[in-house]
Amino acid sequence: MKKIVLAYSGGLDTTCCVKWLQERGYEVVCFSADLGSEFSPKELKTKAKSSGITKIYVKDLQSEFADSYILPALRAGAVYQNKYVLSTALGRPLIAKHLVDIAHKEKAGYIAHGCTGKGNDQVRIETATTLLDNKLRIIAPVREWELKSREEEIAYVRKHKLPLKITKEKIYSIDKNIWGISVEGGKLEDLDNEPPENSFYFVKPAEKVRDRVCYVSIKFDNGVPVALNGKKASFLSMIKSLNKLGADMGIGRTDLVEDRVVGIKSREIYEAPAAWLLHYAHNELESLTLDRQTQMLKKEIASQYAWLVYQGLWFTQIKRAMDAFIDVTQESVTGEITMKLYKGQISVAKREAKNPLYKKEFATYGAGDKFKQEYSEGFIRLMSMPYSK
Ligand code: ARG
Repeated sequence: MKKIVLAYSGGLDTTCCVKWLQERGYEVVCFSADLGSEFSPKELKTKAKSSGITKIYVKDLQSEFADSYILPALRAGAVYQNKYVLSTALGRPLIAKHLVDIAHKEKAGYIAHGCTGKGNDQVRIETATTLLDNKLRIIAPVREWELKSREEEIAYVRKHKLPLKITKEKIYSIDKNIWGISVEGGKLEDLDNEPPENSFYFVKPAEKVRDRVCYVSIKFDNGVPVALNGKKASFLSMIKSLNKLGADMGIGRTDLVEDRVVGIKSREIYEAPAAWLLHYAHNELESLTLDRQTQMLKKEIASQYAWLVYQGLWFTQIKRAMDAFIDVTQESVTGEITMKLYKGQISVAKREAKNPLYKKEFATYGAGDKFKQEYSEGFIRLMSMPYSK
């Protein structure tokens, strides 16, 4: 029998995938990853069982996700098209890695996922899988099957007596993890619609945030967040606390028309309070600790890094090469940034660094000025010399 490992969420698509694969003679092993969505291992196992699955792996990958996928992207400053912190994208290589590990353990020759043929996630999962083991064959039932709508999928599930929790009309397609929520579909597909309030899940609208100011400080050690408001915290727990706080203060909503890997432009809205707070603080600390050219080059690397993550090219040499550059830059990114939050806005309130490149004695217009203004004349002459006629 052909054995296949399916990335399984227990939703409508992957429930159909189980049956569809079994009908084609595959022995299906399921894998579900907890990256910080609403997740009940017990419910998943029961669901899988009543879909005829005898083996399911359920793994809590939140720490691995935070430390080995989100953290490098944060240190890189990776944000796609200025508005997307890559929450969904960063999870895909991690899921692929575990799918491949399970396939090896189970001696399965195939991997399956429930992604559509229009999206980015198929690209990411398949690219990552292939880069890890190019002998594994990949099956994407949703790209091939005859079920053309949600209604047809529901009919298929009913016909085969598969478990199904009929939720009220599913308005949006949602993907959630600790780094953010991605929401698309429904009314969002019309660009003249402002995102309806029901398309946001946890960040308060700025106009509903209480009229109060809140300060939050993040301490970094070599570009790694190590303490929140002066208290040591793991990166994962910091993300969770910042999500709560940021959501309450109306931080982290974005609305983006983005360029998908397959060439389509699509509109998606995102909520990522912790991610935006962390990027803000990290960026602020870099402006104080990195020299000008390093900052310039790092900006270019950041945009390349975001594009690489967006495409799912995580397990590549170029990714490791960029990490090596970023690692060196982060040697000086040690210090603490305090932010002020007010009605959905972040501003910087206090900056401290272990080795700041900001020197008050050079910058000041007041007493204690050490900058030798007379040097500037010669400096400017030499600087303009190559350009003068
Ligand atoms: N556009 C985002 C990406 O490609 C999110 C994709 C998943 N979105 C969703 N609503 N299911 O990374």
